[in-house]
Amino acid sequence: NNPPYPAFRATEKGSFAWDSTVRRWPIIIDSALKDMEQAVAATTNDPAKKDEGDLIIESLQQLKQEIADDKPLRLLKDNDSDCASWNEHINLYFSKVTWFDGSWLFNECYMYRRMRESYSLSTHWKDYDVFNNNKISTFRGSSASVFDLAMKMPQLITPVELEKQELVFQELIQVCLWGNATDLSLLTNMTEEDIKRLQAIEKEKLAEQLQFIVVNHIDQVWDKLKHMQNARIDFVLDNSGFEVFVDLVFADWLIQTNRASKVIFNCKTIPWFVSDVMPKDVPILLNCCLDRGFFPNQPSTDQLNALETLVKRWQSYLASGQLVLQSHSFWCSGLAYRSLPTEAPELFADLKNSELVIFKGDLNYRKLVYDCQWPVTTSFHDAIGPDLADRFTSILSLRTNKAETVVGLAKGKQEEIEAKVSPNEWKCTGKYAVVSYNG
Ligand code: F6P
Ligand code: MG
Repeated sequence: NNPPYPAFRATEKGSFAWDSTVRRWPIIIDSALKDMEQAVAATTNDPAKKDEGDLIIESLQQLKQEIADDKPLRLLKDNDSDCASWNEHINLYFSKVTWFDGSWLFNECYMYRRMRESYSLSTHWKDYDVFNNNKISTFRGSSASVFDLAMKMPQLITPVELEKQELVFQELIQVCLWGNATDLSLLTNMTEEDIKRLQAIEKEKLAEQLQFIVVNHIDQVWDKLKHMQNARIDFVLDNSGFEVFVDLVFADWLIQTNRASKVIFNCKTIPWFVSDVMPKDVPILLNCCLDRGFFPNQPSTDQLNALETLVKRWQSYLASGQLVLQSHSFWCSGLAYRSLPTEAPELFADLKNSELVIFKGDLNYRKLVYDCQWPVTTSFHDAIGPDLADRFTSILSLRTNKAETVVGLAKGKQEEIEAKVSPNEWKCTGKYAVVSYNG
């Protein structure tokens, strides 16, 4: 199951893997340290908890140093249920690799799992999500688009004519796609203006944004959804905050138009790549939306009422089981998704019962196509491998491009893009995207 082309590694100076390892990861660990320092300082009534908090701070500092010193990966030391599997893979394939010369995909996942280890080894901080505050405060900054969507939603779910529904679908799929542009682990190199532009949901802006979708299978997805009825649809989620809000909007539309009778949100089991959704994040986000003082700039009563209607409906889906939140440690392994049938056979079998599995975001995409240096014209079908391409269910990837791996481009497309922008600009900044479908 080796990748057919070389994996990306941080040894390649100037690559995004290298930039992540030398620049982005230290910033991410620093922000976790800052959060922990505040949390420990606020722990005034429990000395044992305070001491453990200090130990966690120390181990995060050591982790940062280990990366900077390019040390070899070591085995994990906690008792979490996925620990044995991680160690088995490190022993088998990664025992001699370092933070720089190992595959970037595995190492980056390992970094977040190592952060988790610091918490798992404690007794008082086991359930602490070091990124929680970050996720919530960034969501607060998305209020303009949140209220726009809430006000618009009644018009999006009423049309019964297929032609009108298609227009709504064309809009919503893009909203759901561009919602991925703003994950928190990339905010280290995005300006606020970039983020606002990418969160814009007006029709005209979306039409303009079409030019940045370099692989566009939206019409094929519509062919699949057009006559679908009462199906199960799965999302393999990416980020919390605005992104999962738009995933909920899309899921709501699928339910309201009777295309889906059940939508399953597949979440992460541990704090992951800063902003990824864990099951607990969804109720937290819904409660934020129902808290009339949560968003800044005094929203109008109409806006608050529209959002409340929407969120109450989502809560009712959760109560009735039309919307299900589940998580699996496979999504937090360092492995590419072609190992799903062997590493998590029960998950593979379960997902096959879904009519469509929608993979959100960059990391899911990298894992789907086995993060390696594919020629960009390789087909998505070939890159995901035969198990997912031919022995699974339909797959849709909605991904804004935040890393070099990209496949499925028409011949000549790369040249056309690179006549205008640099490879880094269209592959790594989240400003371009792919909508890749395998039916
Ligand atoms: O850091 C690796 C990476 O895949 C980036 O390229 C991206 O910034 C980040 O992970 C997460 O992206 P997403 O939230 O879209 O998976
Ligand atoms: Mg993410």
